[in-house]
Amino acid sequence: MKTGVGASHAKTILLGEHSVVYGKPAIAFPILSLGLKATATQSDNGNYLDTPFHSGPVAEIGTGDESLEQLLAETALRNIMSWIGPASSDRAISVKVEGLIPPARGLGSSAAVAGAVIKSVANLHGLSLTSEEQFELVQSVERVAHGTPSGLDAYATSTDVPIWFEKGRAKPLRAKKNPALLVADTGIPGHTVEAVSNVRSKRNANTKEVDELFDKIADLTVQGGSSLEAGEFRQLGSLMNQNHAILRDLGVSNDPLENLVATALEAGAIGAKLTGGGLGGCIVVLGESEDTLTEIATSLIGAGANKVWNVNQAEGNF
Ligand code: PMV
Repeated sequence: MKTGVGASHAKTILLGEHSVVYGKPAIAFPILSLGLKATATQSDNGNYLDTPFHSGPVAEIGTGDESLEQLLAETALRNIMSWIGPASSDRAISVKVEGLIPPARGLGSSAAVAGAVIKSVANLHGLSLTSEEQFELVQSVERVAHGTPSGLDAYATSTDVPIWFEKGRAKPLRAKKNPALLVADTGIPGHTVEAVSNVRSKRNANTKEVDELFDKIADLTVQGGSSLEAGEFRQLGSLMNQNHAILRDLGVSNDPLENLVATALEAGAIGAKLTGGGLGGCIVVLGESEDTLTEIATSLIGAGANKVWNVNQAEGNF
């Protein structure tokens, strides 16, 4: 049987969330231990989606009471089929997505599911999408999820190297060596749409003050790019800590995130900050070396973290 495959993964934002929505730069890393694989086949029984969130005929969803995750996977399938055009409508398509990125944790679950579905259906038709085409198709799904997404997730979940993202464009970042990173989940859903909207209201009320904070984050991100390339990880950790303090001032942190950030630093981390939209979700932590991560992960789990993942190692769950 003819099949098409597509892979994607979770992402973590190392520096620059929120200000990236206003055209400032951000740095994101792929989380290689949280990958997805989609397999597309032709189907005799109508379009069908089997994802970690829902299994069923596509015709039966779109009724208004499906979960957001279902709606997004369905939108991804519809969008790539209509992009391919008549060639895709000869036969119905069934797509199975394996792997699970916890949704609403700032890890890019929606963009990753959309990206894997889109790649698998393109691959089934013998098409290889350019990164711009892939980006546009994932963004069309992300707009359903997030309203006005910066586009960072659409690139970062489909590119398996760290990226520098600015004003809708991404370029790979060449780190001298990989920093020792882990991501820990508070277990509480984040609220990206609400957080982005709160930051917007704050900026409307105090434009000068909030723009100064965005400028500071941009400055930290520029320095972070240089630190990464030079392998100066102590410096990078300090930049992450400063970025977290600004995100806290912007009002997108909360007690569970603060608890995990403090725990990571007490356990010897050289940098820790919330990652993604905030108001729940995850933190990203930088250790001195890969060897120190296990001890930090153990402390985080002791302090209530739901899950902890190694960012750079495919088999890296703690
Ligand atoms: O999808 P999340 O939670 O990783 O948030 C994305 C980061 C934001 O900068 C807050 C929003 C965006 O569109 O870039």
